[in-house]
Order: sequence, then C-alpha cells, then structure tokens
Amino acid sequence: MFSSLAIYALLAIQAYTVSAFPAYESLAGLSREELDAAVSSVKWVPPPPPPGPLADQSAKLVHDAAHPYEPLKPGDQRGPCPALNTLASHGYLPRNGIATPVQIVNAVQEGFNLENSFARFLVYSTFLVNGNPVTNLMSIGDKTSLTGQDPPKPATVAGLDTHNNCEGDTSMTRADAYFGDNHSFNETRFQNLVKFSKKYGAGKYNYTVAAQYRKFLIEDSIQNNPQFTLVSPRLFTAFAESVFPVNFFIDGRDTSGQLDLDVARSFFQNMTFPPNFHRRNGSVSNVGQDVVTDLMPNFRPGYNAHGVNSYVPDPTSATLTEPCVRYVNFVNRNIKSLYPNPTGVLKEALKINLQYLYEATVAAGDGCTQVFPYGK
Ligand code: HEM
Repeated sequence: MFSSLAIYALLAIQAYTVSAFPAYESLAGLSREELDAAVSSVKWVPPPPPPGPLADQSAKLVHDAAHPYEPLKPGDQRGPCPALNTLASHGYLPRNGIATPVQIVNAVQEGFNLENSFARFLVYSTFLVNGNPVTNLMSIGDKTSLTGQDPPKPATVAGLDTHNNCEGDTSMTRADAYFGDNHSFNETRFQNLVKFSKKYGAGKYNYTVAAQYRKFLIEDSIQNNPQFTLVSPRLFTAFAESVFPVNFFIDGRDTSGQLDLDVARSFFQNMTFPPNFHRRNGSVSNVGQDVVTDLMPNFRPGYNAHGVNSYVPDPTSATLTEPCVRYVNFVNRNIKSLYPNPTGVLKEALKINLQYLYEATVAAGDGCTQVFPYGK
C-alpha cells in the first residue's frame, strides 16, 4: 500500500504539473515501478486553458533581481530556441527546462512581450508533437524522463530538439541535423550571421540582414546538406525566427531596429539577458517577415531529392500563404502520425490541446475550418 502522503503528493503533481516532475525519482520511499503504477492510477487533471494577453504590455526591466541568471545544473535541458533557453536560465521558466504550455505562454509574454495568439500558436504546435499530453510537460531541449511516463509509440515526446517537428534545417545559429548537432550554439553559423550583419547592416542585425541571411542559409543547405528539407511546419518557423531577434532581442528602450551583435551572442550562445535588459514596448509577433519573404518571391517549400543540389518543390506542403493548409496538415499528418489511435486520458488530453491550438489559430487571424482527428 502507498502511504496517503505519497498519494497526496502524486495528486498534487498531477494537478499542478510542478516544474520538476519527479516521476522517476524516489518519492516517499516508492520504487520506480510503484511510482509508475501510482501515477497511472492517479486522477488525471485536464490541462488548463492558456492565459490571455498581459494587462501591462509596456517595456520594463526583465533582467531584474527576482530573475538572476543561474548556470545550468546537471540534467537541466536547453535546446534550439535562444529565447526559451534564456527564460529558463533566468527562472521565467522552470530552470530545469521542463515546462507546461501555460508556463511557456506566460514566460514569453512576460519576458519578451510576444503577442498572445502567436505565443499560444507556437506553444501548442510544439507541445502537441514534442510534449507529453498526459503529464502536460515538455522539454525545451532533449528527451528526458522528467516529462513522465511516455504514451505508447509511435509517440516520441522527445522535446524541442526533435528534428522536423518544429526544429529544422537552416537555423541561424544551429547546424542542420544532417551535420550532427541541431540544437547547440554553432560558432561557424554565428560568424555567418556576423558577416551578413557587417555586409548588409553596418555591423548590426536588422530586417535587411535577416532577409539576406535567410536566403543564404537556404542556398547553403541546398548546396551542402544532402538531406536538406524545408517544408511546413518548419517552413513557417524558419521565416518567422529570422525576424525574432530584431523584434525581441533589442532592448525595449531602443527603437532603432538594429540589434547589437554582442547582445545577439548573449541570447544565442550564453542564454542570458544582457545586463539591465528591458523587454520590448508593446506585444508583437512576426512583424517584418514580409521583408524576408519579399527577397525570395519564387521560393517554394521542398527538399533535396537526390543529394546536394537536387532541390525540388514539395506540392503537398503548405506554402507561407496557406496557413489553413498548414493547420490541417499539421493536425492530420504530424499529430496523427504520432498518435494514430489514442484512447482514454491520452485521447482527452490530445483533444483539449488540439482545441487550444485551433483557438490560437483563429485568434491569430486565420479563419480555418476546424478538424477533429479524434472526434468532437
Ligand atoms: C512561444 C514559444 C516558443 C517556442 C515553443 C519556440 C520554439 C523554438 C524552436 C523549436 C526553435 C528551433 C527552430 C530551428 O531553428 O530549427 C526555435 C528557434 C528560435 N526561436 Fe523560439 N520558440 C518560442 C518563442 C520564441 C521567442 C519569444 C523568441 C524571441 C524572443 C524566439 C526566438 C527564436 C529564434 C531567434 C530561433 C532561431 C534560432 C536559430 O535559428 O539559430 N522563440 N524556437
């Protein structure tokens, strides 16, 4: 028999999805097997809805005394997203890098002033393919047992490092997965960002640099990565991320639109806010992305079909102007392939998170028709 204290602790874990889900650690003297059995028998609590927009969206000091940088401890997760890494290193997210969707929406709003519907859209898109729907936890880095017991395969629950769910080729400061490490800071890539900032931005990173560097990254991968692919959903993150450093990494008291490269390194490599950093003034999403897409009007999503330099368009992928194709394919292909026949609590959790994803899609202005892969 388990002690009532242990059961109470487990209920609390399920109900509040604490930051460090101790599913595989000794709790009240339980063995791992006892704990697994107890967790699966605990009443499941549906994931709460995401928060709304911030009441106060003004610029403010976010590198404050309550959020000091702390170096990583063994087992802490960091991954391909410099913003989430930074938020975890400053305690806006659980410092171990394991977070719930609500925690991530709150953190990106509070720390960077990311617009609410876009934040929800990004979070539920990534969570549904990389997180654990039942424990409501996701790793911002690699796969870890800290997200709890996995649902049945083919589900992966492998964190943001997972290639070709949301992470993908042509990152600005991370190498393509083909070259071995798709999530750690890569100095060679960063030096390319520096080179383009010097050439097109007088030493700063701005929308013009973002466009030129994105074009280069795509051409570079076509020429050097035999397994290069750039299709939805990665297609959308690739283009949006190009302008994120301009929109979010510039101090909120500076309206120049020019990102200093030491500040860029602080986020991309060191996962820390610069001293005295203020978040931007007013929430925003991917403003400026048109500058990037305008430089590549003929670009089509696709892949290298037969090694390097064999790029062909993929007509089954959504293009950047087809957000509803993206939404429907993402649900019916990406999510369904990981969860072909969910049952019980897992199915309920997926349906609720799919609902949150759809609501975010509509709130972001895309009037798509909702799809119900697991019934209404
Ligand atoms: C809202 C939740 C967010 C999630 C779930 C998320 C997730 C991700 C993922 C999976 C990647 C890897 C894509 C790749 O390059 O292969 C990424 C990259 C990136 N993210 Fe985030 N992100 C979020 C918010 C943000 C915010 C608020 C910012 C800016 C403040 C940001 C800035 C970036 C940048 C600049 C990259 C590109 C890194 C590079 O290309 O080297 N992200 N993010």
